[in-house]
Amino acid sequence: MEFRGAAAAVLLLALIPATVFSAAPSFSVDYKRNSFLKDGERFRYISGSIHYSRIPRVYWKDRLLKMYMAGLNAIQTYIPWNFHEPTPGSYDFSGDRDLEHFLQLCQDLGLVVILRPGPYICAEWDMGGLPTWLLKKKDIVLRSSDPAYIAAVDKWMGKLLPMIKPYLYQNGGPIITVQVENEYGSYFACDFDYLRHLIRLYRSYLGDEVVLFTTDGARVSYLKCGSIQGAYATVDFGAGGNVTAAFEAQRHAEPHGPLVNSEFYTGWLDHWGEPHAVVSTAILVKSLNEILEVGANVNLYMFIGGTNFGYWNGANTPYAPQPTSYDYDAPLTEAGDLTQKYFAIRDVIKKYRKIPDGMVPPSTPKYAYGQVPMKKLRTVAESLDILSFSGPVKSTYPLTFTDMKQAFGFMQYQTVLPVDCINPTPLSSPLNGVRDRAYVSVDGVVAGILERDKAITINITGKAGSRLDILVENLGRVNFGKDINDFKGLVYNLTLGASVLANWTVYSLSIDEAVKGGLLLDTVSLRPPKTTTPKTPPTKLSPPAFYAGSFSIPDDIPDLPQDTYIQFPDWRKGQVWINGFNLGRYWPSRGPQITLFVPAYLLSTSAPNNITVLELEASPCSSGPCAVEFTNTPNINATTRFTTPFIRDPLNLQGLL
Ligand SMILES: *[C@@H]1O[C@H](CO)[C@@H](O)[C@H](O)[C@H]1NC(C)=O
Ligand SMILES: *[C@@H]1O[C@H](CO)[C@@H](O)[C@H](O)[C@H]1NC(C)=O
Ligand SMILES: *[C@@H]1O[C@H](CO)[C@@H](O)[C@H](O)[C@H]1NC(C)=O
Ligand SMILES: *[C@@H]1O[C@H](CO)[C@@H](O)[C@H](O)[C@H]1NC(C)=O
Ligand SMILES: *[C@@H]1O[C@H](CO)[C@@H](O)[C@H](O)[C@H]1NC(C)=O
Ligand SMILES: *[C@@H]1O[C@H](CO)[C@@H](O)[C@H](O)[C@H]1NC(C)=O
Repeated sequence: MEFRGAAAAVLLLALIPATVFSAAPSFSVDYKRNSFLKDGERFRYISGSIHYSRIPRVYWKDRLLKMYMAGLNAIQTYIPWNFHEPTPGSYDFSGDRDLEHFLQLCQDLGLVVILRPGPYICAEWDMGGLPTWLLKKKDIVLRSSDPAYIAAVDKWMGKLLPMIKPYLYQNGGPIITVQVENEYGSYFACDFDYLRHLIRLYRSYLGDEVVLFTTDGARVSYLKCGSIQGAYATVDFGAGGNVTAAFEAQRHAEPHGPLVNSEFYTGWLDHWGEPHAVVSTAILVKSLNEILEVGANVNLYMFIGGTNFGYWNGANTPYAPQPTSYDYDAPLTEAGDLTQKYFAIRDVIKKYRKIPDGMVPPSTPKYAYGQVPMKKLRTVAESLDILSFSGPVKSTYPLTFTDMKQAFGFMQYQTVLPVDCINPTPLSSPLNGVRDRAYVSVDGVVAGILERDKAITINITGKAGSRLDILVENLGRVNFGKDINDFKGLVYNLTLGASVLANWTVYSLSIDEAVKGGLLLDTVSLRPPKTTTPKTPPTKLSPPAFYAGSFSIPDDIPDLPQDTYIQFPDWRKGQVWINGFNLGRYWPSRGPQITLFVPAYLLSTSAPNNITVLELEASPCSSGPCAVEFTNTPNINATTRFTTPFIRDPLNLQGLL
């Protein structure tokens, strides 16, 4: 076969004018020489992961240039489906979602692209990139041949892949390889029909020439369900292990062809309530050296992690959501700053390929704008008329986010106490159905917090007919494993004592739209700050409420605005918007992340900059200085607190400090 193929190629050469032939770019796997072939020449990539969805568009070029200057010749990126198809059939490829612009920048800088369009991507991204509206079919088997899933995948790929096609290397673009699914061998379904379907689908849109590949953990057991005929099998593994043994696993699936580590971990992911993960530079460069020494291809995951802005973070199980920062201890920080790890990696790469001449672009300057006083607007429960665009829905039993067609953020549940609860009475989610955190008040007084996998019962008191307000926060959908069908809200009944609570009023909340539209400010005059000594001690929880403040960029200092970080001294947990842009979650009371990255482009020099905060637990405003603070130094590695479940008597909240 090979001989005949070669003969045919010679024949073809003779027939086609040489100029045309040499002009046609090609990329393929050379099984004989254990290598990739680019334009007929052996090619090895040294790549880095960058997720355009985690970096503001204005910074794409700066980050890519820094990657290029480190000596990389390729980048790898994921396409998060849910970032581009927020509701079925409506697509968004504008602004920070402009995939084609990103691909064009890579090409302009001379970086080839390893594309990972999923449809599932994991990536510590909400639901592993799958759109939450897939859960409309309640028993859908995601990442399988389930017809409802396949129909949605086909429709999405029918939009995406034709857009990608002109950017394939053989069509004159930067994309050399395209990944099918992601670490499928780690998923329970092991559905080869699904993988075969994806391969047929990709080939039907992208052609037979494109190099498709799979990625799995470097163990034979993972490759069993992850690798498939028609896609080149690659592996992923981190620093500090046995590189030879890891590639032996790949050789089990691919006896010949290039060695590829598709995710060589430069750092690791974080969870709220766990110490910040770090990977030592010394161990990293040792393993990188070993990988490059055996001639392997490598992708450094992440080269820059970036930020989970808004609500985009995912979660692991037992339920552990990832923080807003996706810094990853990567060679470029969340803010794109150069690190010692960056230069150490560059020094290793230097030994294997010529790195570009010229200056590495410097880190961007940061500015400490200082403290900004905040004022309380009103509580969420007082704002339902403003926040609930679609109005309340009555339901005997609780409705989920999916039932209410809400994807992210918060929903409010209301009912009344059916009986007197003179003595502390347990309010419970016996089936652990609070997804993911419920802020509970009785007649406007906080009763406590229920939390998935951590606190399924609190005690409450109150008279029959008292209003029970429960604000439920979606903390990010599970992105890995068998629990990715992650419904949000109150997904099972709550009980009070021995009886099931019923007769709910459920509010879908459009908080982002309300903040963006200035609705909270327009309808409420700012309350004067309290001057009297508060009755409540600062340790006590208060109902979820909005706060606002503004600050102007000094005009006597050159080169402002600059990037900055916002922090929340003595605030506890919430969400923050700057000029209507949802920066993400803050949770300094749990850690390890304390500061949130604020890119300069969000800040205005011509108008005061507006900060909106939704504080869920307790603000410092009733008892002390009521301010947030902009600093020039990131802190994402503070000591963590509350790593164990906290279940507290509402009358005895001192333990919460
Ligand atoms: C690494 O793995 C290879 C292949 O399995 C083995 O021969 C070698 O002894 C291992 N090296 C170390 C240091 O364990
Ligand atoms: C809630 O309880 C009612 C009555 O026991 C039951 O019919 C219903 O299925 C329950 N709902 C959920 C989601 O568990
Ligand atoms: C729900 O409301 C109906 C009508 O007001 C009432 O008859 C019923 O007892 C209520 N159910 C519960 C569990 O409170
Ligand atoms: C902040 O809000 C004020 C009042 O609504 C508005 O005039 C101003 O333009 C806003 N600032 C920015 C940067 O959007
Ligand atoms: C946090 O990171 C900074 C910067 O890398 C480092 O100087 C500091 O020692 C770290 N702190 C902790 C508690 O690990
Ligand atoms: C609820 O109150 C009871 C009685 O005071 C107590 O035994 C129980 O520990 C409390 N439960 C919680 C979750 O605080």
